[in-house]
Amino acid sequence: MYDIPNLPYLYDALEPYIDQETVKIHYEKHHQGYLNNLNEILEKINFQKNYTLIELVENIDELPIEDRGEILFNAGGVLNHNLYWKNMSQHRNNRPVGKLADAINKEYGSFETFKNEFIKQASLLRGSGFTFLVINHEGNLEIINTPNQETPYLYKLIPIMALDLWEHSYYLLYQNRRSEYINNFFNIVDFVEINKLYEENI
Ligand SMILES: [Fe+2]
Repeated sequence: MYDIPNLPYLYDALEPYIDQETVKIHYEKHHQGYLNNLNEILEKINFQKNYTLIELVENIDELPIEDRGEILFNAGGVLNHNLYWKNMSQHRNNRPVGKLADAINKEYGSFETFKNEFIKQASLLRGSGFTFLVINHEGNLEIINTPNQETPYLYKLIPIMALDLWEHSYYLLYQNRRSEYINNFFNIVDFVEINKLYEENI
């Protein structure tokens, strides 16, 4: 059975940009909920393979066809939230570093252009979903949106930065002011962590 990592900071660490009540409910109820659902389905179908979550997604065609949708939704929910929590912190590491900084400059010209592009993509997402920075099949950076809990691993893209755009991520604090939440994400994003993921995967 799978598990979720501990939250790498206290519930109030992302204040004032994400309030502690939101972090608590989001982590303890939503994130944990995807995990519980996933484990329940896998138990029901007596799944025995020792796959990582990413391998589970990559080998989804080995699982019963009628359960694949629910498994992908919940496995995606776990993976997407693992990354979302990991790529934020209270450390204000909000400028790209290392090889990621070079790649962002090469692909987008400057950090400001990249940031504007990410914010633009996030504002274009309709309904629930995520905006990701991924490493694409050519090994380049790309910003994509996916609906609901769809994980980029399904397309063999490697997500290194995730912004949750479900209303449960921001509604208690921001209500309908979604663009404010999107902009404030860049105050608490942790590019040291994101760069680690980038350098591990290129
Ligand atoms: Fe979420």
